[in-house]
Amino acid sequence: MIKYLGSKRRLVPHLVALVSALPGARTVLDLFTGTTRVAQGLKAAGFDVTANDLATYSAVLAEAYIATDALGVQRARLEALAAELAALPGVRGYVTRTFCEEARYFQPANGMRIDAIRAGIETLEVTPSERAILMTALLLGADRVDSTTGLQMAYLKEWSTRSAKPLELRLPELLPGTGHALHLDARACVQRPARYDVAYLDPPYNQHSYYSNYHIWETLVRGDTPSAYGIARKREDCRTSKSAFNVRKEAWGALREVVLNVNARHVVLSFSNEGFFTEAAISRLLAERFGTVALVRLDSPRYVGARIGIHNLRGERVGKVSHLRNIEWVFIAGPDAAGAHDEMAREHSA
Ligand SMILES: C[S@@+](CC[C@H](N)C(=O)[O-])C[C@H]1O[C@@H](n2cnc3c(N)ncnc32)[C@H](O)[C@@H]1O
Repeated sequence: MIKYLGSKRRLVPHLVALVSALPGARTVLDLFTGTTRVAQGLKAAGFDVTANDLATYSAVLAEAYIATDALGVQRARLEALAAELAALPGVRGYVTRTFCEEARYFQPANGMRIDAIRAGIETLEVTPSERAILMTALLLGADRVDSTTGLQMAYLKEWSTRSAKPLELRLPELLPGTGHALHLDARACVQRPARYDVAYLDPPYNQHSYYSNYHIWETLVRGDTPSAYGIARKREDCRTSKSAFNVRKEAWGALREVVLNVNARHVVLSFSNEGFFTEAAISRLLAERFGTVALVRLDSPRYVGARIGIHNLRGERVGKVSHLRNIEWVFIAGPDAAGAHDEMAREHSA
């Protein structure tokens, strides 16, 4: 699965256990789905999952992993299409020029293949689900040969070892069952009439914008050629498309709007102790809407960038990281919060 800051990879079993402990829960909205890891865990456990995110790359992942039923996919046809795409000769296009020559995110030979494959996907007669599966294969393949610490605000000074490997186009492992993918601002998403048994909220917790940190994935799946700025060669619209959740002055209002309007019986909310809001403020907000609130604190290693060190835009190491662990708060709000909390706390200490 793709490298992603704030991915809840390690928390998935705990979150699935928690949602499973809520009596009668069947439908779940993952409002900030990112990599879709949590949504995938829930789908695999049999929940009817709706995965939403503002990022276009995330909507593509959600279409492939959540909305697509693996049993309805013509795997052999897709394997053949992927093999054709993988065999295309490289093309020196936007990705090669912007991300391999003006920057060093991928070795040029891989950049040229990414250019050829992303253009090739657009020429195929495929369903939206098949397009998403092939795009996901491209994102995963590109991620395996990048030269970053997992964020696209800088590339490494020296090429990573993995960047020398040839890009491989492997189809993602899909899950049986249907689900739903949405590509909306969370505040618009919660205005929809659809009602869920549980809403899982994992919003950005500080000023670091996902749109900027993953600008290459956004450009790959959009297939556009925006003008780029700075050493990181970010898309021009990174300057203007910051999410409200990344702006200190707007973030509380945005979270409040989502919590007060989300149409769900229970909310499970993840937040970091390094974020904009205090534990007490979040608890009060959830209590205002849902009454009962319980909290589990999970200790987790900080993201890989923090473990590798602090780097400047040229990928040079410039400072020391103050600490290597953070606390993830998991709030549970709604009528059955207390019972689910005990279940999760028991499972976590086991
Ligand atoms: C902490 S990450 C979620 C990680 C996810 N749970 C996972 O395990 O991969 C926060 C996500 O919120 C998305 N996001 C930021 N602002 C948003 C908004 N206004 N509406 C919906 N999604 C938003 C980002 O694109 C990012 O994927």
